[in-house]
Amino acid sequence: MAPTSSHVVALTIMLSAVLFASTTTAQIPAPAKGMSWTFYKSSCPKLESIITKRLKEVFKKDIGQAAGLLRLHFHDCFVEGCDGSVLLTGSAGGPSAEQGSPPNLSLRKEAFRIIDDLRARVHKECGRVVSCSDIVALAARDSVVLSGGPKYQVALGRRDGTTLVTQDTTLANLPPPFATTGTILSSLATKNLNPTDAVALSGAHTIGISHCSSFTDRLYPNQDPSMDQTFAKNLKATCPQAATTDNIVDIRSPNVFDNKYYVDLMNRQGLFTSDQDLYTDSRTRGIVTSFAINQTLFFEKFVVAMIKMGQISVLTGKQGEIRANCSVTNSAKVQTSSFLEEAVEEAVELLAGMR
Ligand code: HEM
Repeated sequence: MAPTSSHVVALTIMLSAVLFASTTTAQIPAPAKGMSWTFYKSSCPKLESIITKRLKEVFKKDIGQAAGLLRLHFHDCFVEGCDGSVLLTGSAGGPSAEQGSPPNLSLRKEAFRIIDDLRARVHKECGRVVSCSDIVALAARDSVVLSGGPKYQVALGRRDGTTLVTQDTTLANLPPPFATTGTILSSLATKNLNPTDAVALSGAHTIGISHCSSFTDRLYPNQDPSMDQTFAKNLKATCPQAATTDNIVDIRSPNVFDNKYYVDLMNRQGLFTSDQDLYTDSRTRGIVTSFAINQTLFFEKFVVAMIKMGQISVLTGKQGEIRANCSVTNSAKVQTSSFLEEAVEEAVELLAGMR
C-alpha cells in the first residue's frame, strides 16, 4: 500500500514525539531567590508530615478533594503570583473580587476549608511561621502524589500577599476553557512557561470534575468537529441544552493521576477547547503524543512545570506577611472570630518565646 499524506503526517508526529521523548531530560528548576527546599527545617520541621498526614485522612473520605486543591494552587499562582491572594475572602470593604471572579466560582469551597484547617494545625505546632501560600503549594503536591502522580519536592519560603486583586486582573490571568492553543501558549509565556510546560500542566486535568457550562459551547448550537461522536453524545446526555442546573461531569478516571488525559486527546475526547486544541495544533501535538505514549516522561515534565508554576512572582524575605488566618490579611480590621484566634495564637507564641 502506498503511503498517503495522512500516513506521512501520522509518522511525522510519532517521530517528533519519540525524538522529543529521547532528547529531553528533566531539569529541576532551582528555588527562586529567598526560597529553599528546606526553608522550615528548623522553624517547623514537622510541616510536611502534618500536611501529608491530614490530607491522607481527608482523601480517604473523599479523594475528589485532591483535584480541588491542585486547581487552587494553579489559580493562586496565575493571578499576581503564588501569594495566597485567592484565599482572601475580603476586607472591611466587601467580598474579594478575586474569589468572586467567574473562573474562581467553581473552585471547591471545601478546598478553602481544608487549607484553613491545615494552617491551624501547622500554626498550632510551630507558631505563625508558615505562609498560607506555602501550605497551598504543599497541599497541591500531596494531592498529586496521593492520587498516584509523581513525587517531588516543593521549594518553600513564599510569603502571603497583602493586597486584594481585582476581577479584571483575575480574568486577564486565568485562561478560559474556550481558549485555543495560541492563547494558552501566549498567556503562559508571560509567566515564563514554555509549550512543554503548557501541555504538561494541562495534564492536571487527568483528575477532577467539570461543570457542563465549562464546555457546552462545544456541543451547542453546533458540535465542535474536533470532538469524537460517541463522546459528544454522552456529554449531551449529561448536559442537555435545556438544562436549568449546571450538572457535573467527571473528567476521565477522575481520581487517578495518570497520562490517560493525553490518550483521550488523541482519541478526540478532550473536554475543553483548551485541552483538545493541544492535539489539533501542530506546535503541541508532538508533545501530547509523547506524553500519551510515555507516562514517565509526562511525570518528569509535569514536576518541572509545577515547580516553575509554584514560583511565579513569589514574595519572599521581608515582602508580604505570614497570615494568621488564610482568608484575611493581618491588617484587615474585621471583627471575626479569626481575630480572637489570632490573639490566642500570638499569646501562645509569646509564651513559647518566654519559655
Ligand atoms: C491551561 C489552561 C487551563 C484552563 C483553561 C483550565 C480550565 C479549567 C476548567 C474550566 C475547569 C472546570 C471548572 C468547572 O467547571 O468546575 C478546570 C478544572 C480543573 N483544573 Fe484546569 N484549567 C487550566 C489549567 C490548569 C492547571 C495548570 C491546573 C493545575 C496544575 C489545573 C487543574 C485543574 C483541576 C485539578 C481541575 C478539576 C477541579 C475539581 O475537580 O474541582 N488546570 N480547569
